[in-house]
Parts: sequence; C-alpha cells; structure tokens
Amino acid sequence: MAFFIPEDKIAEIKSRSDIVEFISEFVLLKNAGKNYVGLCPFHSEKTPSFTVSPDRQIFYCFGCGAGGNLISFLMKKDRISFPEAARILAKKYGVKIPEKRISGEAKKRISEIEGLKSINRLAMDFYSHVLFNTKAGEKGLYYLEKRGFNRKTLKNFNIGFAPHGWSNLLNFLRKKNISDSLAQKAGLIVPKKNGGGFYDRFRNRIIFPIFDNNSAVTGFGGRVLDDSLPKYLNSPETILYNKSRSLYGLNMAKEKCRKTGTVYIVEGYLDLLSLYQNGIDNSVATLGTSLTADHLQLLKAYAEKIVLVYDSDEAGIKAAHRCIELFWKKHINFKAGDTSFNKEKNVDTRILVLPRGHDPASYLSEFGLYSFLDHAKKAQGVIPFIISSAVNKHGLSTEGKIKIVSDVRSSIAAVNDYVARGLYIKELAEIAGINEAVIHESIKEAMPDMQRTGTFKKEKGADRENRLEEKIISMMLQFSDIIPEIKKKNIISYFRDEKFKAIGDLIIENFAVIHGNVAGIISLTDDKLIRNTVASLAIVDEAWEYNGCMKLLQQFETNKTRSNNTLLNKIKAAEKESDYELLLGLLKQKQNQAEKKIAANNLDFAGG
Ligand code: GTP
Ligand code: MN
Repeated sequence: MAFFIPEDKIAEIKSRSDIVEFISEFVLLKNAGKNYVGLCPFHSEKTPSFTVSPDRQIFYCFGCGAGGNLISFLMKKDRISFPEAARILAKKYGVKIPEKRISGEAKKRISEIEGLKSINRLAMDFYSHVLFNTKAGEKGLYYLEKRGFNRKTLKNFNIGFAPHGWSNLLNFLRKKNISDSLAQKAGLIVPKKNGGGFYDRFRNRIIFPIFDNNSAVTGFGGRVLDDSLPKYLNSPETILYNKSRSLYGLNMAKEKCRKTGTVYIVEGYLDLLSLYQNGIDNSVATLGTSLTADHLQLLKAYAEKIVLVYDSDEAGIKAAHRCIELFWKKHINFKAGDTSFNKEKNVDTRILVLPRGHDPASYLSEFGLYSFLDHAKKAQGVIPFIISSAVNKHGLSTEGKIKIVSDVRSSIAAVNDYVARGLYIKELAEIAGINEAVIHESIKEAMPDMQRTGTFKKEKGADRENRLEEKIISMMLQFSDIIPEIKKKNIISYFRDEKFKAIGDLIIENFAVIHGNVAGIISLTDDKLIRNTVASLAIVDEAWEYNGCMKLLQQFETNKTRSNNTLLNKIKAAEKESDYELLLGLLKQKQNQAEKKIAANNLDFAGG
C-alpha cells in the first residue's frame, strides 16, 4: 500500500491523543464512575449507552455494538479507511508520517501501473475528442442524444467514441511515442493472428471509460450502435482492471453515498448514466458480473444501505440468492425491517425490481424520478423479497404453500440473528397461512446443511463452552497478569469459537508489545467484528483476582478433557504441549489398536 503507516507512528498518535477529549468534540459525554457516557453517534437512542473508557482509551456502545479505539471511532464517524483516519489524527496531534520507502520490485510495478494509467488517459481523451469534435463521432453523439443523454452527463463521465477502422488509436498512440507492447498491456490494441502488427480493440463503438476509486482510468467498455454482437466489449483484465473489483461510477458517487448512507446498484453503463442524469448520483453499476464480495467490501466503506435495481423478477431473484450466498461468506448481515438486532455492522440490502419491460433508463424517462424514488423507498429486504417472489410464483394452494416453504427455508436459515429469523418466520407464517411451529421445524431441517458448510459454528450444547471462552477473553483483557498462565497452559489452542480464538491469539502473540493495553490490541486488526468484541468485553469492569482466574482456567481444562478424550485428540494435545513421554505412550496405544485391526482383517481374509 502506498499509504502504509508505520506502527510506531500509530503508537505516537495514541500517546499524544486522548479519546475522551476527542470524542467530546462530537458527543456530549457525562462522567459516570470510571467511564464517560453519552448518546451514541452511530445509532439513534434516547438513553445514553455509548461508553468511553479513559483508562483503556476505547469506546463501546451497548446499544448498537459499535466499539474500538480512537482511530476506529474516526473511521466509523467519517466512513474513512484506517490510513485516512490515522493521517488526519497524525496531523491533528502533530505526528510526522514519512512516506514509506519501497523496494525495487514494487517500484517497477508501480511505474508500470502509472504507465498504463497514463496511456488509458490518453486513449480516453482521444475517444472523447472523436465523439464531441469530429465527423466520425457524429453518429455516436446522435445515438446517445436519442437515448436521452445530455452533453453535461456525457462529459462528466468522459464518454467517447471509437471510430470505424483498424488503427486509429494505434496510430495516435504511436505518435505520442507509446510503445505497442505497453498499449497491448493496457488492452487497447490486439496482436494480429497471422503475421506481426496490432489492431485497435475498440472500433465503431461508444466508449465508456472505467475509473477506479481515485478517478484513474483502469479500463473501457464499448457499446455498438445497433443490434450487432457483442453488444458490449470490455477491456481484458489487466494489472489495473479487474471486473469483479470494479464498480462503474463509484468515483463519481462516493461522496454522495457517504452523505446519504445509501448506494443504488444497477447492471449497466447506460442505466447508471440515466440515474445520474436524473439526480440519483449515489449509484454504481456492476458491469455484467453479479455482485461480488469485493464489491461489497468496497461499498461498505461508503454506505450502509444498498438498493439493488433490476429489470426483471428473474434477475432480482438471482441477485437475492447471490446476497444470501455472500452472507454465508460473512460479508453482509441482514436487518429485519428498521430495527437492528445484529451487533455486527449491518448492510441493509434491498431489492428493487422494475415493472416488466423496463430498465432504469426507460423507467425514468417514462415515469420520472419521483415514481422511481417511491419504488425505491418501498423496495423489500432480501428475505421478504425471496418470500414474496415464492408466493407469486407458487400461489397459495396447498401444493403452492409446500413449495414456498421449501423455496425459502434455506434463505431464512441463513439469517444468524435469531430475533430477525423469528420475525421472518412469523411473516412467512402469516403470508402463507402456515403454522409458525411447522416452519420452525422445516427450517431446523435445513440447518444441518449449513453446519456442514462450516457457517454455523455453534452446535447444540456448545453454548456453555462458548460462554467460558468469552469469559476467559474478558479476563485476559481486564486482568493482564493472567496472560502468561494462559499462554503456558496453551488454553487458546483449545478454543472452538473462531472469533475468541483469534482474539486470544492476538493478545498472546503481541503481549510483549501491548501488555494490558486493550486499545493497542484493537489497532492490531482490521476485522470490525473482532474490534467490537474486544471493546465490548474490555469496557465492563469485573473485579478479577488471581485465584478466581485460576479457578476459571481449571474449569475450562476440566471441560476440555471431557470433550477431548479420544485417543487422537490426546495425541494431538501431547504433540502440542511437547509432552514426549505421554506422546510415546499414546502412540503405542494407537499402534496396538492398529495391529489388532490388521489381525482381525487377516482373519476375515483367511476365513473368506
Ligand atoms: P442498453 O442495453 O443500451 O440499455 O445498455 P445497458 O448498459 O443497460 O446494458 P444491458 O442492460 O443490456 O446489460 C447490462 C450490462 O451488462 C452492460 O452495461 C454491460 O456491462 C454488460 N453486458 C451486456 N451485454 C454484454 C456483452 O455482450 N458483452 C459484455 N462483455 N458485457 C455485456
Ligand atoms: Mn439497458
């Protein structure tokens, strides 16, 4: 990363700043014992549950689960990245951040990237010049104007036209002393199949430059003017352009997304341009791929509500299921209506399907902005959308109801917030006129499937164990004297909950550096769930003392031996603890078992 910030500078920011003082600039904080409390800036509330600890230099909201240190507070407040927040704070507290020195390898890569960016920019200017200022571009301009786009929109997006002919851009770039090989790397020219030489990739097409977040040109899309195929041609993947990570229009939309908290996602270039021209400029387009985890990651930084706009039920349903899939991979969580029950950051995802036969562009030109916004306001969440689509598809006959439940149950099972899940089940029961308990049973049946995919980590009866793990982590965060003991006993390696395990490992690995400094642990990870969890466990003060802690560890170890008493587990544990004497004995036992097995098999053999 070009914006890498050295660890010691982060430490310096922390030592010069004070979280209570900083947050006081935005939130009215009142003293309450050891901590300060106020109304949470991240969700609306009437009684203060937003807590700031001066001792630990962290904040945590008991209402919405947001938590972290000073840097995470600023990131969340202004929706900015870690390096951005760190830089702002560095400036405020007078910490000088040097530009990071980079290796020769990285330098080469950066100069190649910069080279491609500047070639792309040259090409963009060429195409744009053709569209607006030449005879060759007239038919492009005519087409775009016929479709309702004005000059201002076209200029804002640097739309252009690739003229008819095989070497217009090629010759232009050569005149600018750009080597063919670099132009080829940028995907702008293509080598001829037989014999040498190159030809222009884009010919006789309207050109849409694709930008990254920082308005560098990473690639192009080109549309024909008639019904010939392919309708769109895109740049190939290059070191600059990766379509599953690109969102068309994000560079133009990001500020508005930040302000409104909402982003509209459409499928195509022209849909995006028409939303923009109608004033809905917090929009991006996915360009022929379905929504990816990378897209969501990118958008999460700018918006907490996503409205996916589709031109048909089929596309909408496909996208809704895609969202569920991404949810499994933990990239989004669902909200039930307006109430946030989930403590992780929620992305409220809505699906807006336009009336049959309309795409966003045609809808806006026929019905106008307010009708569109009205539809958007009523757009359903992913799960309600899946439910109502199933109802529409199957109808409410007995057979229909059976199909509805089987269509939607795995999606509902994917909601890991049980309050939200309960509400969806209730909704389904009401719509389909089926007993809630029956649906519950059916959804439970759908669960084991998901457990196999590893998404549901909690099994029955594991709750208590989980609580014990949580307690041990709280103890580590609040009573650091116990950490060496936990390290010695290898306690964390037996944790089942991945989140607690990750936190435990983080604390132990960095103990030498951070000691009892919880705020320090928070800045060691990018993972929001982990940061929030650490803050939530660290901010409550329980009166730990050494003997009580040891008892807790003993309890954990007893539980652990109860569940880990198979021979293989014992061997693994002995290996981990380097107890060679025990290991030898266990391995002998295993060998005995194996020999017995072989003997039994041989007997079978002789007998058969
Ligand atoms: P119009 O059809 O002119 O309204 O353009 P559109 O941008 O709305 O396109 P459409 O809804 O047909 O398709 C959505 C998006 O899918 C496009 O913007 C392209 O990014 C992509 N796409 C569509 N057709 C093709 C194709 O033939 N090849 C490639 N590579 N992408 C395509
Ligand atoms: Mn279209």
